[in-house]
Amino acid sequence: MGETAQERGLSHVTQCYVIPKSDRPSLNPETADVPIVDLMGFGDSSSQRSTIVKDIGNACRYYGFFQIINHGIDQFVLDGALSSAFDFFNLPPQEKAKFMSNDVHKPVRSGTSLKDGVDKIQFWRVFLKHYAHPLEDWVKSWPENPPTYREQTGRYAVEVRTLALEIMGAITESLGLGAKYLDDEMEKGMQVMAVNCYPPCPKPGLALGLPSHSDYSCLTVNLQSTTGLEILEREDGKWKAVPELKGALQVHVGDHVEVLSNGMYKSLVHRATLNRERTRISIASLHSLGMDEKMKTAKELVDEEHPKGYKESSFRDFLNFLAKNDISEGKGFIETLKTQY
Ligand code: OGA
Ligand code: NI
Repeated sequence: MGETAQERGLSHVTQCYVIPKSDRPSLNPETADVPIVDLMGFGDSSSQRSTIVKDIGNACRYYGFFQIINHGIDQFVLDGALSSAFDFFNLPPQEKAKFMSNDVHKPVRSGTSLKDGVDKIQFWRVFLKHYAHPLEDWVKSWPENPPTYREQTGRYAVEVRTLALEIMGAITESLGLGAKYLDDEMEKGMQVMAVNCYPPCPKPGLALGLPSHSDYSCLTVNLQSTTGLEILEREDGKWKAVPELKGALQVHVGDHVEVLSNGMYKSLVHRATLNRERTRISIASLHSLGMDEKMKTAKELVDEEHPKGYKESSFRDFLNFLAKNDISEGKGFIETLKTQY
């Protein structure tokens, strides 16, 4: 596979990237009014924790999204991961070509768009995806170049996973299931990192970095170099830009939490937009159960008034779906799990 249009920095947007009119992003989107959760005191067994758990529960219920501050990951760890990602995407094409694959089952792979050359519409993105937990199993298959990549991304991966598991505990607690409800499964669970690079786009109103989707995870924690994430606000059905908050991380409710919560917490519908000037990097860390572990709706959340609304599914079920379907068209995986509407 050669260099892609995005990598050559095309001065115009070729037809294959042009999004249908109704889905094109606004160049001046409204700003999303989304919750910020301050995690200071989260680790304490104090009243502070119960306030934070409540805040997280409300954010999941009403937005499916929140930004976290005072999350305990040092700025230099965040900057290290972002700069390693920038350096990776700046490598000569032959270095990156080693990882190129459209096989969604590969634990380490890179590509462009979603499935380049296969999807009808192409997206203005280059990516590297890799499994990250347990780190010692996977880090040896991560890129050796840039030389800092394994150490800096590895350090971030471990820290963000610890944080994500604590947040998962808060989520199950807020659902009345207790903080340890998924502890064992999450401990043995998967962590997939999607390292995304969105090069500058001469016509950001015509193309997208990633189309509308929800993440197949319990929870995704996103780190970005600059703004560009848009979320579909439920109240008015409009796409809104997530505002910049230096040092913050973004938390997305994934499909698995929707299934677990019997639809009480819906997964976040989001997309990545582009800009003319700057390359944007984002590192999405997706946390879920083990590859063949089925996520089920909590029986505690099912009763006559709230019948079970979802089928169970595993990460592998999702990968099989992804291999067969173009997620930029039609229904997402979560729709195939719903048993009633
Ligand atoms: C993703 C994703 C958003 C972003 O990788 O699933 O939604 O900001 N990324 O790049
Ligand atoms: Ni996503």
